[in-house]
Amino acid sequence: MLQIAQYRSEQFDGVRELWEEVFPNDPPWNRAERALPEKLAVQPELLLVATIGDTVIGTVMAGYDGHRGWLYSVAVKPSQQRQGVGSQMLGEAERRLADLGCGKINLQVRAGNEAVTAFYRRHGYEMEERVSMGKRLTN
Ligand SMILES: CC(C)(COP(=O)(O)OP(=O)(O)OC[C@H]1O[C@@H](n2cnc3c(N)ncnc32)[C@H](O)[C@@H]1OP(=O)(O)O)[C@@H](O)C(=O)NCCC(=O)NCCS
Repeated sequence: MLQIAQYRSEQFDGVRELWEEVFPNDPPWNRAERALPEKLAVQPELLLVATIGDTVIGTVMAGYDGHRGWLYSVAVKPSQQRQGVGSQMLGEAERRLADLGCGKINLQVRAGNEAVTAFYRRHGYEMEERVSMGKRLTN
């Protein structure tokens, strides 16, 4: 049975394997070894894991800064995609952000990732004319 709940430390390997499969080209700072401890230090209740039994099949990471909510690392194991897992995880992340008083969620999708844009559109997200900028403070 599908369960969606806050990340637990024994799920580290499952999340790492999932992210390696779904985000094979991610830079080192997005890998589990780095991103999970960082997230566990700030709003760990917004790191959600979808499981069937003990198997990790999905993740979503959210953050609320008091003004906007952000979503990251929305991922479903390829063999489990198109069965509603992503939608359920997104719904739970949105509920948790709304409970904190968040009135708007932002997220970034890599250019050309049409499947993911279709997924978010289906859930009411709209394309906004913005240029995404970033600056690394650590390497
Ligand atoms: C995006 C992702 C999380 C969606 O998870 P999922 O469990 O497959 O999504 P759902 O089954 O809940 O899909 C809900 C709806 O979204 C849309 N959708 C999902 N995947 C889609 C795809 N590949 N192509 C087109 N539409 C898609 C459909 O409308 C779908 O409804 P339908 O299956 O009834 O047609 C998953 O495809 C994924 O992990 N992708 C790779 C990782 C990634 O790039 N993440 C985004 C980082 S920003």
